[in-house]
Amino acid sequence: MINLLVEHANIYTPKDNFRKAKGGLAMREIRFIKDGAIAVKNGVIADIGKTEELKYKYSDVEEIINAEGRAAIPGFVDPHTHAVFAGTRENEFSMRMEGKSYMEMLRQGGGILDTVKSVRAASVYDLVDYLKKRLELFYKWGTTTIEAKSGYGLNFDDEIKQLEAIKLVNDSDYGQIVPTFLGAHAVPGQFYDDKDAYIDIITNKMIPYIAEHELAKFIDVFCEDGVYDITQTKRILLKGIECGLKVKLHADEIKYIGCSELANDIDITSCGHLLKITDKGINALKKGGVVATLLPGSAFSLKEQYAPARKIIDKEVPVAIATDCNPGSSYTESMPLMITLSVLNMNMTAEEAITASTLNAAYAVGLGSRIGSLDIGKQADFILLNEDSYLFIPYHYGVNPIFSTYKKGRKVH
Ligand code: NIG
Ligand code: FE
Repeated sequence: MINLLVEHANIYTPKDNFRKAKGGLAMREIRFIKDGAIAVKNGVIADIGKTEELKYKYSDVEEIINAEGRAAIPGFVDPHTHAVFAGTRENEFSMRMEGKSYMEMLRQGGGILDTVKSVRAASVYDLVDYLKKRLELFYKWGTTTIEAKSGYGLNFDDEIKQLEAIKLVNDSDYGQIVPTFLGAHAVPGQFYDDKDAYIDIITNKMIPYIAEHELAKFIDVFCEDGVYDITQTKRILLKGIECGLKVKLHADEIKYIGCSELANDIDITSCGHLLKITDKGINALKKGGVVATLLPGSAFSLKEQYAPARKIIDKEVPVAIATDCNPGSSYTESMPLMITLSVLNMNMTAEEAITASTLNAAYAVGLGSRIGSLDIGKQADFILLNEDSYLFIPYHYGVNPIFSTYKKGRKVH
């Protein structure tokens, strides 16, 4: 028996024909089924095709949804967020708008370190509550899977607490969150003059514990001038790899110090930010088969120049886009806004932006074989739009284009 049949939709989806993230012209390939239908069984896409064919094939159907006049596309995958946080930083936002710099506030103990204070003061159950509420917003804006990083604990107990909050939410079947350990997100105050002592704690205590208890799938480092340099970053990432974690990286965000070139020697799944990436960096990503995860929301909110998306895509490096959702540099849960910014400010085509926010994003979190496109056998994670084409997402901006969101065939918004 089919649990759900969505019929009469305009279906648009990237084609997962090569079973890997797409770069270059392949990012523009969107499969279109006019008057299409999706059949869902046990949370998985059992069939997809023309409505008349599927209606003929399946007579035993539990629920039918008439999606006439609407587009159906895969649920967005947000492959880079810092969604496990407590507290907000609206005062800092005002100060930034008056010209104070993001890094200057961090150096003075604000910025990320301000959120660290709030997270340390919160219990794991508080964090679970905040995360669940935030997930409601992600669903509302069409996102069905997110990646979320620790990095606001910056000590053993509080880093573990953030990852445990993710695990509790995942165990409650409320969401599907890909956990990333980002203990090297900032340098805790008492270690300013001896970063290596903090890195010792990360590599000797945190990473082994996290790997043993399967609390993270990825390891990440904020590789940046004044935060963690290349040598320190490499040391942390290699320990993560040794313990079985896959690698993500905050690279080339504020200043180019060659972070993305680490892809020449280390197996990296995805590099995020890349506002300042150079040709050398792009070549390294290409050579390493790395997904470039671009975060137009942080360029927008920090009033920085956007990442060179056109150049990266044209060099055939697969691009994903993400919100970077966090209380400092990009406070948003909206992937539709990221699509608008990608099209209007990074010169991506709407088709590239759709691939970047679904299929490539799924590969950026290591889930490309399960989510990111509407293919038989993949999870039934899809959204119905208010309009009949994905073109309305970048075009009609500032409003929510999502009519409803389905996660594993279940309506979550
Ligand atoms: O990705 N760049 C470092 N970290 C985050 C910001 C986190 C924060 O400001 O709270 C980012 O932009
Ligand atoms: Fe980030």
